[in-house]
Parts: sequence; structure tokens; C-alpha cells
Amino acid sequence: MTFGKAIRHQWLLDEDIIFLNHGSFGACPRSVLDVQRNWQDRLEAEPVRFMTRELPAHLDAARTELATFVGARANDLVFVQNATDGANAVLRSLLPSFEPGGELLTTSHAYRAIRQTMRYVAGLCGARVVDASVPFPIADPEEVMKAIASAITPKTALAVIDHITSPTGVIFPVKDIIALFKARGIPVLIDGAHTPGQIELNLDTLGADYYIGNCHKWLFAPKGAAFLWVDKKHQAKLHPTVISHFLGEGFQSEFGWTGTQDPSAFLSVPAGIEFHRTLSAAGSRAYTRKMLLDARDKITAILGVPLSAPEEMLAQLCAFPLPYDPEATDERVQHLHDILFDEYRIEVPAMNANGKLYVRISCTAYNDESDFDALAAALVDLRNASKIIV
Ligand SMILES: Cc1ncc(COP(=O)(O)O)c(C=O)c1O
Repeated sequence: MTFGKAIRHQWLLDEDIIFLNHGSFGACPRSVLDVQRNWQDRLEAEPVRFMTRELPAHLDAARTELATFVGARANDLVFVQNATDGANAVLRSLLPSFEPGGELLTTSHAYRAIRQTMRYVAGLCGARVVDASVPFPIADPEEVMKAIASAITPKTALAVIDHITSPTGVIFPVKDIIALFKARGIPVLIDGAHTPGQIELNLDTLGADYYIGNCHKWLFAPKGAAFLWVDKKHQAKLHPTVISHFLGEGFQSEFGWTGTQDPSAFLSVPAGIEFHRTLSAAGSRAYTRKMLLDARDKITAILGVPLSAPEEMLAQLCAFPLPYDPEATDERVQHLHDILFDEYRIEVPAMNANGKLYVRISCTAYNDESDFDALAAALVDLRNASKIIV
């Protein structure tokens, strides 16, 4: 199988846009959307029969396939709408265990919505959120370990750590990080919103207390398909963000029904896994990896900026700084995105990484070298016109 433009018709992606932001919301292939449509048709043919008699078994089957894919037991994993939903379920369930003066620890690379959830929950109980300051550019995984270790205190009540960071696209050494917290008796929620489909996962051996992952990003599922994995010893205390009929009837029952909603995204996860498997079997991992590293080397060389992370900390995402190292005001982040989209038809996010302005690229099987050449040319153009700093 060839990749790039030759397979792009398998997605609905607008041909006039150079799409370098699979990371934000994924892009669901046509074949998976067809499967989702089929589930919706089956549901609407007899909504009551489907929801009450058929759905539980179909959901169990989809959950079991997903569990196998992420190296977990099916009973330890539940579907949630998205990573934010999963993080809310964990943090709100843990609220009674937090004390005034307690600390919820995350890092400076955390995703804003998750940090906001931490702030909200901390605010309800007089605790506070502490950010371990992880440098960026980053030289090696040891720098992450040091930053996190130095932020732990006797008051640390929970750690929320990204597996692959959103603004910077860096793979954190989560196994070692979990061990660090475990040795101190501190529970850990891993935010793996970007992990399923991007790197291998084995939740059974990872050792986390809680793990959230999105299927609608790198696993090609429809939007609104994510999972929450919880260590058996914590499951009885975990409740979904939306409480419904089955309160108190166990982890699977409570999360299995959170009010009427369209379950077709969950039910289409196996189709996303199958699509991902087919691409992987054809060599997509090697293809996207080479493309990412080549693009990174080319763009940073053209712009004359440093590499931001070592190869072993990258998979399909990568962020690079801009000439003049501009401060990342909200206005600049928005402006850089908008100018690339409006003037060059490139969909790529500008990011605030530790207060500096970065551009983050996503590399997927439908991309090819010419997409990144176009981005490099646009950035050179903007630099020459001094338009990068607004
Ligand atoms: C690291 C991280 N966590 C959480 C989220 C939230 O994902 P969702 O919007 O699907 O809840 C994202 C989204 O990009 C993310 O990158």
C-alpha cells in the first residue's frame, strides 16, 4: 500500500486544505463513518429494542476489542465520551479524598481542559493545583523525571500526568513516573488522550491507577469515543460524570448507562481499530515516523531553530519553535494559526509551550512530504515578511 495522496480519498478531508492537525480531533475515515451510520440505522429501526435489549451486548463486544487493543482486561475499562469526561469522572469521584491544603500535581505541558478540571475540584475542597515545570525544548526523559520529582511534597494527593503531551507532542516516560509516585503512595491518573493508536499500550502492566484515552484521535474512531481504565482496587469508588439509573451497582453498570445518548461512536471503535491495523500492517508506522523526523529536520534547519525533543520522545506529533523565540500571547497563538489557515490554506495549530510560541505538526498516513514543504515555505514567507510576531 502506498500512503499520502494515494489514500487520502479514504477520508472526507477537504482537498483544498493541507491538513496537519490530526492531533486535535482526529479525522475519521469514510469506511468507519459508514459503520457508524449503520449502527445509527439499526438503532433508529427500533430504538427501544436496540437500547434496552441489544445495546449492552454490542457495547460489551466493542469494549472487549478495545481492551485487547490497549492491553487491558475488559472489566477494567469503560467507554466515556472523551478524555475530558474521563478526567472529570476521576477527579470528581476523588473529591472526598482531597483535604484542604492538599496538592494536585500536574506539569507545565498539561492540557488546559484537564488542568481546569483539576482547578475546579481543588477549589471545592481548599486544595490547589501544582505545576511541575518541565522544560521545553527538552533533552531527554530524565528532565521530565527531575521536574516531576522536585514538585512532589508530603501534601501531594494525586498526580495527573500526560502520556503524550498536547502542546509539545512529547512522550513522557510514564512507567517510571508512575513508579516514582507509587513509591510514595500517591495515586496517578495518566492522560493518554493522544496515546491509543499512536504508540503501543499495555495498561495491565503499566501500573497506573487511572488512565484515560481517546479513540477519536489516532485510532480513527468517530468523535465521542474514549475510554477510562481504572485499577480494580479503585473501581468501587468511581462514578461517571453523569449519574444515572445504576448508581451503586458497580463500575461497569454505572458507566454503561449515563442517560440517553448516541452510542454509535463507541460501537464503531472496532472498525477504527481494524482500519488502524490495516494501515499498520501496510507499514504506516515506519512511513509516518520517517515523515515526521524528515519534516522536523527540514523545517527547523530552514528556520534556523533548535530541535525541541529527541527522536525517542516523539511518535506522530512534534512541535518546533519559531525564529526570534516569540512569547506566546493568546493573540499571537490565534493569529499564527489564522494566518496560516487563511493565507496559505494550512490547518496547523500554534501552541503555547511554557510561554513560548510553537507550531505543532501531526503526521498521519494521509500526509506526505509536500504537505510539510508547504508549511516550511509558508513559515519562511512569514518570517521574511516579519509577520510571525504580531
Ligand atoms: C493531552 C490531552 N488531554 C485531554 C484532551 C481532551 O480531549 P477531548 O477534547 O477529547 O476531551 C486533549 C485534547 O486534545 C489532549 O490533547
